[in-house]
Amino acid sequence: MEIMQTLHMNKGDGETSYAKNSKVQNKIISIAKPIVEEAVLQLLESKNVVPMESMGIADLGCSSGPNTLLLISEIMDVLHSKIGSSSSSTEFRVFLNDLFSNDFNTVFMSLPAFYNQLRDDYFHKRSLQGPSPNLFVSAVPGSFYGRLFPKKSLHLVHSSSSLHWLSQVPASLDSKASTALNKGKIYISKSSPQCVLDAYSLQFQNDFSLFLKSRAEEVVPGGRMVLSFMGRPTPDPTSEQSCYHWELMAHALMSMVLEGLVEEEKVDSFNAPYYAPCAEELNLEIQKQGSFIVDQLEAFEIGWDPDADQENDQTVASSGKRVAKTIRAVVESMIEAHFGNEIMDDLFRRYAELVSSHLSKSRTKYINLVTSLVRTA
Ligand SMILES: C[S@@+](CC[C@H](N)C(=O)[O-])C[C@H]1O[C@@H](n2cnc3c(N)ncnc32)[C@H](O)[C@@H]1O
Repeated sequence: MEIMQTLHMNKGDGETSYAKNSKVQNKIISIAKPIVEEAVLQLLESKNVVPMESMGIADLGCSSGPNTLLLISEIMDVLHSKIGSSSSSTEFRVFLNDLFSNDFNTVFMSLPAFYNQLRDDYFHKRSLQGPSPNLFVSAVPGSFYGRLFPKKSLHLVHSSSSLHWLSQVPASLDSKASTALNKGKIYISKSSPQCVLDAYSLQFQNDFSLFLKSRAEEVVPGGRMVLSFMGRPTPDPTSEQSCYHWELMAHALMSMVLEGLVEEEKVDSFNAPYYAPCAEELNLEIQKQGSFIVDQLEAFEIGWDPDADQENDQTVASSGKRVAKTIRAVVESMIEAHFGNEIMDDLFRRYAELVSSHLSKSRTKYINLVTSLVRTA
């Protein structure tokens, strides 16, 4: 299954939309903010890059909702405070990328308010008046596993909560003959045979090296990338932090199989096009590809439910519901394409209960990796 055909975050701004259920990803952006700021400052000090008439900035996997333009605001804030009035001569080309099926309409509708806010912040802080800062936003639909931009046109690339999505389900797991390989599971699990772990790891290596190769063409020497995405703390890909949210989804589906609501073969033939690498794997791919140097690489923990009062067990039921809504906003399009729309409400209700029960016993957290890279000269 190619991810491009089925993955999109839930559209619009309704109850189950990504816009209304993306607090975890918002928190990840805030935690990584100092690393982005540092990368912008370093970029401005790079002799290869300044002075510049026109600066290319790309956000890959931008989705739609409050997070989409947040990062761009943060970057513009740093740029304006650092280069001040001289920035009035620099033109900023901002590219928002996501898959073709992304809700770009909602993104476009939010642009007027974004431009107004940017102009107010910019001129208010400087007690100035005048036209908007020279910022030109465009959308670039397509997969980041391949070329998206002209050669040497970008100075800063950012991507948050997106690169854990593979380009496809590992090919060796995506055929009728292989449905029995990962029985009753939909991602790497403690019960998965080694060949499943290997297939995922290989797909990640192929995808991530293609990502780096594509960006290496597009980013100027001395240009920067800040990438953050789900990872895992140890080389063991079956560790709880990297896969337990998928494990619980498999349990929810299997409970529906037991009640005759879902065919078992449907569960056996579904595998998520997702991979949470460890820092060592990431480093190895960056070194092998050879076009970028790692400036920083950090891992941090994020609670499954950022609104949870971690000390209070009474809240786990509502935590379960919130976690289920967050996951639903992200994976529903893909799960629905395979299992059909009729089971969605029931599935995510069961999932919420399983998450609550799990959180009452264990405070499993996601691990997020964030890395800041420099394009070699
Ligand atoms: C969880 S959202 C993150 C959105 C936003 N960056 C944030 O932090 O809230 C992940 C986004 O990555 C996009 N995505 C996944 N694979 C992609 C690919 N190969 N190329 C471009 N975008 C991709 C998805 O469509 C989705 O909108």
